[in-house]
Amino acid sequence: MKVAIASDHGGVNIREEIKNLMNEMGIEFEDFGCECGTSVDYPDYALPVAQKVANGEFDKGILICGTGIGMSIAANKVKGIRCALVHDVFSAKATREHNDSNMLAMGERVIGPGLAREIAKVWLTTDYEGGRHENRVGKIKAYENQ
Ligand code: RB5
Repeated sequence: MKVAIASDHGGVNIREEIKNLMNEMGIEFEDFGCECGTSVDYPDYALPVAQKVANGEFDKGILICGTGIGMSIAANKVKGIRCALVHDVFSAKATREHNDSNMLAMGERVIGPGLAREIAKVWLTTDYEGGRHENRVGKIKAYENQ
């Protein structure tokens, strides 16, 4: 599995935490910034990373900003992306099992690094259930392909 990760200036600390986690888990990843001492615009990071996941260059993507909201809104504009904004472990598991989310967004001003690490760990290791969910995810894909 190859994971693309990025944050704006509001998500640098959690980005580092998740990179440490992926190193510990032996997960291959690439960091797409930001190299930010100053404030940057989250779409400049969310959109390129979402495109890399959508075109298959990466299997999954993780985005962090202050709230996670801007990153998730931007990523979900890219066709093929199902980016889940998650701040609890239950939802991290459920969105993989039910939605087959291929991107995860979190907010560093909302949760701390310990919870972010647990969320990412569960999200990265939980498989999509398919079955009854396939019809639902399929309806999203069909809408995108209209
Ligand atoms: C930056 O101040 C902040 O707006 C951004 O990190 C994010 O929370 C946007 O949704």
